[in-house]
Amino acid sequence: MMPLPLVPLSPDEAEHEARVVAHIRAALAAAGGWLPFSRYMELALYAQGLGYYAAGAHKLGAGGDFVTAPELSAVFGRCLASQAGEVLAALGGGDLIEVGAGSGALATELLAELERQGRPPHRYRILETSPDLRQRQRQALARLPPHLAARVGWLERIPAEPLRGVVVANEVLDALPVERFRIGAGGVEALGVELAGERFAWAARPADAALAAAVAGLGVALAPGYESELCARLAPWLGSLTAPLEAGVALLLDYGCTRAEYYRPSRAGGTFACFHRQRRHDDPFVNVGLQDLTAWVDYTRVAEAAVAAGLAVAGFTTQAHFLLANGFERHLAALRATLPAEREPLAARAALRLVLPSEMGERFKCMALARRYDAPLAGFALRDFTASL
Ligand SMILES: C[S@@+](CC[C@H](N)C(=O)[O-])C[C@H]1O[C@@H](n2cnc3c(N)ncnc32)[C@H](O)[C@@H]1O
Repeated sequence: MMPLPLVPLSPDEAEHEARVVAHIRAALAAAGGWLPFSRYMELALYAQGLGYYAAGAHKLGAGGDFVTAPELSAVFGRCLASQAGEVLAALGGGDLIEVGAGSGALATELLAELERQGRPPHRYRILETSPDLRQRQRQALARLPPHLAARVGWLERIPAEPLRGVVVANEVLDALPVERFRIGAGGVEALGVELAGERFAWAARPADAALAAAVAGLGVALAPGYESELCARLAPWLGSLTAPLEAGVALLLDYGCTRAEYYRPSRAGGTFACFHRQRRHDDPFVNVGLQDLTAWVDYTRVAEAAVAAGLAVAGFTTQAHFLLANGFERHLAALRATLPAEREPLAARAALRLVLPSEMGERFKCMALARRYDAPLAGFALRDFTASL
């Protein structure tokens, strides 16, 4: 299939892009004319007041750049609530922290369904980098009944005090800046960024010792010409995110796979992708600061980082198996029962996209990481692929 043409930027967007480009060009000049891709990705996504997740791009939902599971169907949040509710019940109550809450759709469903189960978290706290998404979340969550809305708060940073409960992150790990690399004739090369005329462009140079060691540490044989990415920042990020977790479970959902699959020979171009207005492409040097930059998650890396942070991998499965094991059919039937007949088929089709193998069912995975928590987790009862990591 031919890719769809990119949507042109409006004059305002073009002006914003020019500001982001100027910021990155200054960083590039200060660094001597070459930036590792992870630094470029960090600036394009997170530069204060400029980056995609730090400024006002619309991002999710209608008119946005991509659609996520909670945006597709309320059934996603309700299934996740079944899993979170089970953990909160086993702990005798606790808090929930959501990382990267997008439009607030997942928070809304999680809270409403946990309340229906009689297991609302004591506090529901959101850790969100994007000021405009924080604003959207506030508006969405203000529509909850006041006693539920009162449990919600926003965190400026990872809290220092101990947490008993659940951490949820849906489609956040894929936004962490990655290193891009290539296997060159003379060894591993870092694919970084330089200026070619007025435009940013890929530029390869021999990998430094850290990147060469990280690629060697993957333990996979990669043929010359093979390009891919790895997320060196994952371990410190996960370690600090889960440091306050005294007892409970972190549920991480994202597109990704085991390391063996990630670096399989046929995936010779890697997994990196850009999203702008529902168009997927592979050029990070257009729409700078106005498009999402993302890479698949190497779940073997997540598991290694978790173990290093003193957590246990308590389950790893596909999104389909996780949702089906958490009452997908029951939740879908309950949702349909509340809808007028003419809206039912559409709602059912949207929910099915969450579990169909050709849609989000298999590409997306769920991993549970536990600390001082050894009760079974229903979401992994149908299939648990932890041994394949
Ligand atoms: C792809 S969106 C997913 C949103 C939501 N979880 C959903 O499923 O609809 C990524 C979200 O994570 C936030 N985000 C990105 N990087 C983050 C980080 N390092 N810490 C916290 N939030 C982050 C973004 O602002 C956004 O809300």
